Amino acid sequence: MKPEMLGPRLRRLRSHVGIRRLFQECSLESRHLVQPYFVVEGEGFRREVKEGYGLWQLSADQLLEELRLLEERGVGGLMLFAVPSFKCADGSRLLEQMAPAQRAIELCKKHAPTMPLFVDTCLCSFLSHGHCGLVKGGKIDNDSSLQCLAEMAVGWGKAGADFVSPSDMMDGRVLALREALDGADLDEVAILSYAVKMQSAFYSPFRDAADSAPGFGDRSSYQEPVANRREALREIELDVLEGADALLIKPALSNLDLMRDAREACHLPLVAYQVSGELAMLRAAAEAGLLDFEAACRETLLSMRRAGADFIVSYAARCFGGGNS
Ligand code: PBG
Repeated sequence: MKPEMLGPRLRRLRSHVGIRRLFQECSLESRHLVQPYFVVEGEGFRREVKEGYGLWQLSADQLLEELRLLEERGVGGLMLFAVPSFKCADGSRLLEQMAPAQRAIELCKKHAPTMPLFVDTCLCSFLSHGHCGLVKGGKIDNDSSLQCLAEMAVGWGKAGADFVSPSDMMDGRVLALREALDGADLDEVAILSYAVKMQSAFYSPFRDAADSAPGFGDRSSYQEPVANRREALREIELDVLEGADALLIKPALSNLDLMRDAREACHLPLVAYQVSGELAMLRAAAEAGLLDFEAACRETLLSMRRAGADFIVSYAARCFGGGNS
């Protein structure tokens, strides 16, 4: 075949590193990553639930050391999950359960006021049955759960959270949280809502770290069915209408199509969550000698940025600090 018949030659724009860098359409920088931590009561407590898998349980003092590391590495922010030291059946001891994590939030804000701080707002690690809402008559009760979640959001807001992140998937939670925050004079606290949260098998390592596995049944009466794209778009629309400031989509890698849909359907900032099982998959494959963990992880994170994510919550954030790709 004659060269002129070959048509466009895409390889011209790939011919050396400078050209490739100039034409790169999106990037992954450490500022695009948010590191989650599991906050526990006590002092001097620091445990990676499974070595190399990035699920860190920390007491408040240890969290401060991590903050320094995140700042040094230019990581974009951190997300806290409170793991209370005791469970409660009905939400009546919520404030007591929240106190250690509130102290951790206050400390973080005192030592690193400009490090964006997200705090997960959900009941699963607080309740003895491990569901994300209150249970009444064997069922997850939507509206009484909203009251409890709103109380929690106000508690995190008062402690100094920049964002509360409702991950419970009750209907109407974004509006309930917004009203409660505004009513408590916390109108500056923003809401990062989980607009797409699939009922997924990729959350198992998280549930070990958060001690939040459901004691009966599963989460399919509130988390979204993997098969349903239109339904996911309705969740996105509703969260926008209810006043979310930014939307989160998870698991990230198996929902890149919905990330792209969301990017086209609204103008809110979008966040991908590379969940515990996604990272575990990569780590386990690397441990088996099948792939290069860092390269594979960067590739998946970059694909989330390409799909439309402004930034990504990832257990690997603290490892990637400083690098760009
Ligand atoms: C709590 C919550 C879960 C995750 C984030 N918030 C677990 C669940 O729904 O059971 C999962 C995150 C991960 O796997 O990293 N509702």
